[in-house]
Amino acid sequence: MPETWPSDLGPVICVVGARPNFMKMAPILRAFANHAPAIPTLLLHTGQHYDRDMNDRLFEDLRLPQPDINLEVGSGSHAVQTAEVMKRFEPVLDERKPSCVLVVGDVNSTLACTLVAAKKNIPVVHVEAGLRSYDRAMPEEINRVLTDQIADLLYTTERSAADNLTREGIAAERVRFVGNVMIDSLQDNRQYARSPTTTIATGGGDPALIAGPEGYGVVTLHRPSNVDTPDVLASLLGVLREISARLPLVFALHPRTRGNIERFGLQHLIDTPRMLMLPPQGYLEMLGLMADARIVLTDSGGLQEETTALGIPCLTMRENTERPITVEQGTNTMVGRDIEAIRQQTAETLAGRGKSGRVPELWDGRAAERIATDLAGWLLDRHAAGC
Ligand code: UD1
Repeated sequence: MPETWPSDLGPVICVVGARPNFMKMAPILRAFANHAPAIPTLLLHTGQHYDRDMNDRLFEDLRLPQPDINLEVGSGSHAVQTAEVMKRFEPVLDERKPSCVLVVGDVNSTLACTLVAAKKNIPVVHVEAGLRSYDRAMPEEINRVLTDQIADLLYTTERSAADNLTREGIAAERVRFVGNVMIDSLQDNRQYARSPTTTIATGGGDPALIAGPEGYGVVTLHRPSNVDTPDVLASLLGVLREISARLPLVFALHPRTRGNIERFGLQHLIDTPRMLMLPPQGYLEMLGLMADARIVLTDSGGLQEETTALGIPCLTMRENTERPITVEQGTNTMVGRDIEAIRQQTAETLAGRGKSGRVPELWDGRAAERIATDLAGWLLDRHAAGC
């Protein structure tokens, strides 16, 4: 390794767009800065998420620097959002001449920036590659499949990801198993997690709700397949209300879900003192809430991994998961939208028969460090070869 980064080798443009990207990027930026020699970076935010709750609070919690560039695309249909990111990203590449573009996860911003860079022959690095739900109705699945096809380097979080990529004809030398950067963030921040009673009081709730011996459960719900259809959303809220009679539930409500509850006239289903509705929470608040919960009910991707790392039973209200290791080895159980399964698995968990599980291989807090070492070597080798 040279002592300093070659002056004619450009920065790595690190792309974030939406909430689940931020906890993945924070440890990567730190590892790049701590690498010897330091890997130069530019943090680019597409602006897909922009609210204080969805964006600023997470930047503060994760100690992320302010983005060097913000494309400020905002909300829109998938086509509009993707197209806007593409249009605004292209001139950035012309101007900044990066050595590569690093994208994380599976949101619209991930695919949009990948497409632009790949067509300009700028190498693309995808962190959290190879996850597959095999459900093309999920927008994220389309983003994952297409990003992986055209990315140059694919860093994976679990071994099954490499099998998925092989099946799609992706050469093994492009794929590297490094572990899970989400868990780097979790370990970095565990000591700073906010106490659930403070979170509840700050959110306008009564901390007495979770002070009883029965404890509490945490709920998040935001997938279009769960919240965009009135019948489906009503049946999920109905069973959660039923569960809340036994176990107080704390919701962190995504703006999409909050909007749909109002639009579909379902407020009566959440109108009970046993269900506390909070706005989207910061990273440290969610960490504190999850760590002390008896159960987490969710349709999020990230929470499936975080509950596995924390050893908290998780019921995933989806028909499939792109993170099978959380079911095979971790604390995750898939319950779909099956009301009876949700009811029964919750009862099992509350009876002390929830899944315990173990922490998967390389979910050890050092994934970003492994990415920094590997990527620096790859970029410097290409540079030496005149690429
Ligand atoms: C996006 C990701 C999803 C991820 C989720 C986490 C895609 C395809 N989906 O979904 O994978 O799990 O983020 O939140 O990229 N809104 C606000 N404030 C904001 C951002 C959005 O109020 O800061 C509202 C807007 O009404 C917007 C809606 O939320 O239309 C949806 O936002 P969008 O980014 O399109 O998708 P998410 O559902 O957040």
